[in-house]
Amino acid sequence: MPIFSSLTARNALYEKFKSKIINNPILDRNLVSYQGNKQAPFSAWFKYREGFSERLVTYILKTLQPKPGLLLDPFSGSGTSLFTASELGWQTTGIELLPVGIFATEARIIAQKINIELLKSVIYKLEKIDYKDYYKDSLAFKHLAITRGAFSEINEKQLVGYLSYCHDFIRDKNIQQLLMYTALCILEDISYTRKDGQYLRWDFRSGRSKGKTEFNKGEILSFEDAIRRKLKQIISDLELDYIQLDLFSNTELSTFTTIKSVNKSGNFEILEPQLYEGSCLEILPTFPDNSIDVVITSPPYLNRYDYTRTYALELAFLGCSEDKVKNLRQQMLSCTVENRDKHKYLEEYYTSKERYDEFLKIDAVFKQQAALQEVLMILEEYKKERNLNNKNIARMVHNYFYEMCFVIYELSRILKSGGIITIVNDNVKYAGEEIPVDLILSDIAESFGLRTKYIWTLGRGKGNSSQQMGSYGRTELRKCVYIWEK
Ligand SMILES: C[S@@+](CC[C@H](N)C(=O)[O-])C[C@H]1O[C@@H](n2cnc3c(N)ncnc32)[C@H](O)[C@@H]1O
Repeated sequence: MPIFSSLTARNALYEKFKSKIINNPILDRNLVSYQGNKQAPFSAWFKYREGFSERLVTYILKTLQPKPGLLLDPFSGSGTSLFTASELGWQTTGIELLPVGIFATEARIIAQKINIELLKSVIYKLEKIDYKDYYKDSLAFKHLAITRGAFSEINEKQLVGYLSYCHDFIRDKNIQQLLMYTALCILEDISYTRKDGQYLRWDFRSGRSKGKTEFNKGEILSFEDAIRRKLKQIISDLELDYIQLDLFSNTELSTFTTIKSVNKSGNFEILEPQLYEGSCLEILPTFPDNSIDVVITSPPYLNRYDYTRTYALELAFLGCSEDKVKNLRQQMLSCTVENRDKHKYLEEYYTSKERYDEFLKIDAVFKQQAALQEVLMILEEYKKERNLNNKNIARMVHNYFYEMCFVIYELSRILKSGGIITIVNDNVKYAGEEIPVDLILSDIAESFGLRTKYIWTLGRGKGNSSQQMGSYGRTELRKCVYIWEK
């Protein structure tokens, strides 16, 4: 039986916000996505594909010109907004749940303080050794079920030997951690896998690929080659940064936008980001009212990407057990079909903080958002009719917006009056039903007292997942940067 798909509430929402939807030709895919970081020192070391570009953060801060103060990114990933804003003179605070993002952020903080000459001498020695001679069973790579067989025997032996050498022979803790991070940055390159959003794709040479079509990822680097290249890139970026700082020291401050202070030993320092490790659903409620000047962030998109599978190699490298990974998967903002409801957990959390009234207020805003309820009702119908390619899609959409209500409420509470929130996100479509994520979230923000200034759209939108294109054809979906004010 065909399902009656009403668009009434979504059309009304579109009418409400249409004057705010503005195509911004400056924002192209390259500027908004990680692609824009390819040439950026530090960011280019590790492909955190879900990251946005440093140029986007600079563009936002220079275009909107808020007065520098405290900037927050509650989904800080590899720290793009934190480091870019720090360089522009902002104090920055980030929250991140995934150990991979946390490790990347810490490594970048360390890299900015590293003694380059000492690092160069360590690397000089490293390049002379045969890593497999230092292999130790006690440091063997602790695979997860989904990473087993990801490396050739020789690459895994050399990787473990390199780690064991760093562990036993590098005394400077900062250099040791940067060398570990260098190895994390090359895991994909030396493996039979390729990151693919929802899971890892396996190259046919692994003997593990099950798909109908054989997947060939192209060149798989040897560990020695990959680590040599990555170390070279890191040294050259650090030297470049150092030269820029040197240049800065001989130039009038006013000609530079970057604010780097000189410490007692004469070295330059940038304002160091502060990072909270854990879920922003728990950490944001601990921030005081009116304490943040600007938020620049990009939450996970409602697109079924599973960070815990995509970054499984890196999580295993960092010592995460199967249980830890499963827990992380559930703690993440719901954006996969596996995420279970956090309703009870949030209710208990707010009650334990004596903030049950606020819980009720947030819960009510979720229930009253008409376009969202329209979408949820239709998706539930599709589920009953077995028209969804996964029955948990309706639950995922429900949970995503439920949790985002809590995030947006907290952001509006902790933002100072006159403050700005910038969100990067994509709209999506399931079973042919467009979900205007930009409009729904903006309306929720307005329920919590924020004003929508712009919904900037990128030149070209994109269709949703390839599974749907067959049935519904490719349609343009808005990819947006939205600006809310308090
Ligand atoms: C789109 S990415 C942001 C990337 C970031 N803008 C960058 O440039 O690297 C979303 C991030 O949110 C993190 N995340 C997901 N759920 C979270 C939660 N509950 N609390 C904090 N971070 C979370 C993910 O691990 C991921 O790093």
